[in-house]
Formats: sequence, C-alpha cells, structure tokens
Amino acid sequence: MKKILKWLGVIILVLLGGVTIATSFRQHITYDAPFPEISASTDSAIIARGRHIVLGPGHCVDCHSNGADKDSLLRAGLEPELSGGYKFELPFGNFYTKNLTPDKETGIGKLTDPEIARIIRYGIHANGEMVLPFMPFQDMTDDDLTAVISYLRKLKPVKNKIPEQEYNLMGKLIRAFMLKPSGPSEAFLNHIKPDTSAVYGRYLSMVVANCNECHTKRDGVGNYIGEPMAGGMIFEEPGKPTLVTPNLTPDSSSRIFGWSREMFIGRFRMGKLIEHSHMPWTAYGRMTDDELSAIYNFLGTLKPVKTGMVDIGED
Ligand code: HEC
Ligand code: HEC
Repeated sequence: MKKILKWLGVIILVLLGGVTIATSFRQHITYDAPFPEISASTDSAIIARGRHIVLGPGHCVDCHSNGADKDSLLRAGLEPELSGGYKFELPFGNFYTKNLTPDKETGIGKLTDPEIARIIRYGIHANGEMVLPFMPFQDMTDDDLTAVISYLRKLKPVKNKIPEQEYNLMGKLIRAFMLKPSGPSEAFLNHIKPDTSAVYGRYLSMVVANCNECHTKRDGVGNYIGEPMAGGMIFEEPGKPTLVTPNLTPDSSSRIFGWSREMFIGRFRMGKLIEHSHMPWTAYGRMTDDELSAIYNFLGTLKPVKTGMVDIGED
C-alpha cells in the first residue's frame, strides 16, 4: 500500500510538473490569421463616423479611457482621452486596457492599420499572441473598421505606458488551455446600410454595441449558453447589490415588455440610474434615435423567452 502511494505521489508530481511546464510554454502561443486590407482615411465624414462609433455604440471609450470624468465629458459632447490604463480586477488576474492614441512608444502609433484591424477582427496581436477576449467586435464591417481606425489615427498622441497584464495561476491555466482567438462569424457582412431596420439593429446589438455580451447568459470563460438576449448574467461586486441583466426578448416576463419605442429611446436618454451598473449607459446615450429604433425593432424579432423572478435587475 505504501509503495502504491509513493508511486502515486511520483506520478502526480510528474503530471503537475508537466502541466506547469506546458502552461508556461503555452503563455506565448502565436496564432495566424490574415491581415484585413484596411487603411485609414482622411475623409471627414468617415472620421466622424469613427468618432461616433468609438464614443457611442461601440463604447470603446468606456474601457479605453481611465478618467473619472469620462461620463461628464461624454455627456457634454467632448472627447475623453483614450490613453488606456483602466484596470479590471478579475478572478484570473489584473488586466489593463491599452493606449489607443497614436503615440509611437506607448500607443497604437507603432501598429499598422492592418495590424489594428486584425486585433479587432481576429483577436490576434501584431506579434501573433491572442488578444484578451474583452472585445467581441469580430463582425464589424470593413466600413466601420476603417472609420474607427481613421478616427483613432487623428487623436492627439498621449504618452501613457500601460503595465503588463498580470495573470494569476488560474489566469495562466485558462490562457494556456481554454482560450483561443476567434474570427468573424458566419453572419459576417462586409458592408451594411445604417437605417432603422431590424437587420441593422441586429448588427448594432450583436456586433457594435454588444448588448448580447451581457444580456445573453455566458459560462465562466465567455461561451454563450443562454437564449439570445434573455438576460440572466450575474454581476457580483463585494459590498454592492448584485445585478442581474434583464430579459430583453418580447415575452411578458421581459423587462421591456410593453415599452413603446419612445419609452425605450427615452430610457437611453436618462443614462445610468443604478450607480454601479456595468452597462455603458453614457456612451450608448450618444446613439441616435434611428440607431435605438433599429435596436428596438431587432429586439422585437427575437424568440420570446420566459424567464423567472430573477429578472429584477437588482436583488
Ligand atoms: C470591455 C472593455 C473594452 C472595450 C469596450 C474595448 N476594448 Fe479594446 N481592449 C480592451 C483590453 C482589456 C485590451 C487589452 C487586450 C490584451 O492585452 O490582449 C484592449 C486592447 C485593444 C487594442 C490593442 C492595442 C495595442 O496596443 O495592443 C486595440 C487596437 C483596441 N483595444 C481597440 C478597441 C476599439 C476600437 C474598441 C471599440 C470598438 C475597443 N477596443 C473597445 C478592452 C476593451
Ligand atoms: C457590460 C454589460 C452590459 C451591456 C454591454 C449592456 N447591458 Fe443592458 N444592462 C446591464 C445590466 C447589469 C443591467 C441592470 C442594471 C441597469 O439597469 O443598469 C442592464 C439593464 C438594461 C435595461 C433595463 C433598464 C431599466 O431601467 O430597466 C435595458 C433596456 C438594457 N439593459 C438594454 C441594453 C441594450 C439595448 C444594450 C446594447 C445596446 C445593453 N443593454 C448592453 C448590462 C449590460
């Protein structure tokens, strides 16, 4: 018996050693994907479209600006500095957003347009490593990627060195064995006409504004496991009331059941009502009536899903 235990111990040690070595090797795995043929434009209408996406529906500003005053600047129609450094403290480690200004040393000045486009469309850094899965914009059209990059290129360069990402052991294991970059989905379109249709509303909700990222249930590593937009994602923060994303499908158990188009748009004009809500209400509040109308139309086309009593937003 003692002998068996001893051998078991040795086997476990060898296995652990193997996993440790594999984990550290797999931290810097590189991936390959094409570089999208995107190049920044100096056309003022394209830059204006990019500005609108970055500060509005695409809510890049919500993560890539670290200023305490970003919401008030946005509400005043001004541009918070997109110099990054916002810190996410997660069970997997501490992660910082990058500097999106054109500074050559600390920002995206060192990246080419196709390199930036590949980061967003394929989740692969210029050096081939995986981009942390914070940005599900893979299906953004060529036109919108061009607009976003054109706007970023026009920003004032700000020197702001971002700390390295800090993975803990669990983070390293997840990075090594559970995450892989993903590219565009089957629904990917290269061009789309902005209008109030449900088709465009789907593009806004699922690609640009990413409502589904929070309003569809996901597992611990981010895979979608719930019915689209039926809510149920739980946000827990120590010392704060837990938030649950509400159901937005056209069912009587939905939060927005019975909301007219005007009420829906009006809710976005009110901005954040629950102080610690994760929803980027201020950026979304910059969406036009037409954009919100398109989202409203899209939500109306979803499969109605009945949800239980958890659908109270705050509990
Ligand atoms: C939910 C938070 C979040 C949102 C929203 C977000 N980002 Fe990011 N972004 C990050 C994080 C975190 C990183 C760092 C990823 C890494 O280190 O792998 C990052 C990295 C980047 C990079 C890589 C820069 C570099 O120097 O390596 C680019 C480019 C970028 N984001 C552009 C955008 C654009 C454009 C938008 C809006 C369309 C956007 N991001 C929205 C969190 C976000
Ligand atoms: C980062 C996570 C996140 C994203 C992205 C997000 N939401 Fe939410 N949403 C929440 C949370 C959490 C709540 C509950 C707290 C609150 O009301 O702010 C909520 C609440 C709501 C409500 C109910 C508000 C009320 O007062 O009853 C609506 C409507 C809504 N979201 C629509 C949307 C739409 C449409 C989008 C995309 C344009 C979106 N959400 C994107 C997290 C998110």
